[in-house]
Amino acid sequence: AESFKYNGNKGQGGELHQKAGDDYPTMTTAQGCPVHDDQNSLKAGTRGPTTMEDHVMREKIFHFDHERIPERVVHARGYGAHGYFETYESLSDITCADIFQTKGKKTPVFTRFSTVAGNQGSPDLARDVRGFAVKFYTQEGNWDLVGNNIPVFFIQDAIKFPDLIHSAKQEPDRGFPQAQTAHDNFWDFCSLSPESTHMLMWAMSDRAIPRSFRFMEGFGVHTFKLINAKGEMKYVKFHWKPKQGLQSVVWNEALKINGADPDFHRRDLWNAILAGDFPEWELGMQVFDQEFADNFEFDVLDATKLIPEEQVPVKIVGKMVLNKVVDNFFAETEQVAFCTQNIVPGIDFTNDPLLQGRNFSYLDTQLKRLGSTNFTHLPINAPKCPMRHFQQDGHMAMHNPKGRANYEPNSWAGDENNPRACPEHGFKSHHEEVMGEKVRHRSETFADHYSQARQFYISQTETEQMHMRDAFAFELSKVEHLPIRERMVSHLLNVDKSLAEGVAEALGLAEMPEPAEAAMSTRDDLPA
Ligand code: HEM
Repeated sequence: AESFKYNGNKGQGGELHQKAGDDYPTMTTAQGCPVHDDQNSLKAGTRGPTTMEDHVMREKIFHFDHERIPERVVHARGYGAHGYFETYESLSDITCADIFQTKGKKTPVFTRFSTVAGNQGSPDLARDVRGFAVKFYTQEGNWDLVGNNIPVFFIQDAIKFPDLIHSAKQEPDRGFPQAQTAHDNFWDFCSLSPESTHMLMWAMSDRAIPRSFRFMEGFGVHTFKLINAKGEMKYVKFHWKPKQGLQSVVWNEALKINGADPDFHRRDLWNAILAGDFPEWELGMQVFDQEFADNFEFDVLDATKLIPEEQVPVKIVGKMVLNKVVDNFFAETEQVAFCTQNIVPGIDFTNDPLLQGRNFSYLDTQLKRLGSTNFTHLPINAPKCPMRHFQQDGHMAMHNPKGRANYEPNSWAGDENNPRACPEHGFKSHHEEVMGEKVRHRSETFADHYSQARQFYISQTETEQMHMRDAFAFELSKVEHLPIRERMVSHLLNVDKSLAEGVAEALGLAEMPEPAEAAMSTRDDLPA
């Protein structure tokens, strides 16, 4: 807040100046050398050439030249804030995660909201999924819950993610569109990947144009595991419920807002926090056991399916309050590195093939995006609990091992700098029997791409259904290749006949296509 003070470039004496003195400290180079003139380069004669010797200018321009880093390959446009998470009651019966042991415990968090497909400069109110990523700085390491505002996903296996994202972003020849789903490639991919049908229902609903980040739900999407101190396992799905309520805008409003203020969502979050109107979300858990998973009509490892709250109610376990804007957007919001593999004792992965692939992808991409394996040394990524390990060196190493021990086993005396693994309290993967042939095949239990899509559609009010029909019709009307439109309508026929007919009519389809074969995938003709 200090830096918001405006004094019109005046020194304490009230005179206008750009010089150090009074309350303006001396500017230095990055090497700490005091700068005498930051606005005129060093020239040979007033009108002569600039000299190579000008270390002040060269350092300034050199640094500027390298300001840009690659934007995130997805979720490039985002906005973050700091806050805390408060646990409502001890959950020690189901998890030994430090964060959930004590009622009232507060854990610092950093949360970044984002759109998925648009580039960094794209408008906030695009019809898109929103990322909802939370980094909990727990006392036993950073736990990242890297979710979205929609509880399911387009695909079931991470190996399809590059295809999904290529199809959703700009087309490679023309470089547009950059923030819309309205183009052939995206709908071509989806119409050939029937597992995307359920997610498309959500993406064409009002959920995909939130009024602001403050009015969105969040979901961990995958099924995770909770492990208690005795090593007992329960499954869990994570939910965020906004205390502000759930609100969206309609397409016409979104277009106007995008035109008038493409920064609407980030401005909203910034202004709300500065005004002391701190947004809050409650964390919910759907906890269930193996028996429920075995009897549930869908596979709990399939990220295109949710577990209805009627079947497993959401238990509210705590709240997150975002109460501090960043000091610097780049240092914090751009350099934050969320990763699904950042997990802590008491929480574990399942074999969801989408999650398993994500666990590789984030760390891998962050090496490229942030430029060094040492990005965990950046304050926004560093844990706020003790860290002791033998990792060393690499670009920009800030804290290398101290003393002689940088390997184990070693026979040097134990101290702060010579840690050992801890069999009692260290992270232990939940024991699970794994058997089977090594195959490249989608499980039969991942089939049925339409039932939950239908459930979602019929759960909507008439007005909301109308919005969905309009959204499908509008987006598909931008698809130039007509067979793609027809193929999409053939999937909608498996969801709801009136929806499919409404869309077909709006698109002016000459003939209604046959319903899509409820096959698992158009690629199932490939050899197993
Ligand atoms: C980034 C969510 C699937 C790869 C993100 C972010 C979120 C997110 C919220 C932005 C993080 C931030 O704010 O910095 C999800 C969800 C998924 C999903 C909920 C499905 C349930 C995948 C899959 C892959 C993937 C399957 C790859 C196989 C990435 C990459 C980034 C990213 C590479 C950029 C990370 C960075 O540069 O820091 N994802 N994602 N995501 N996601 Fe995902």
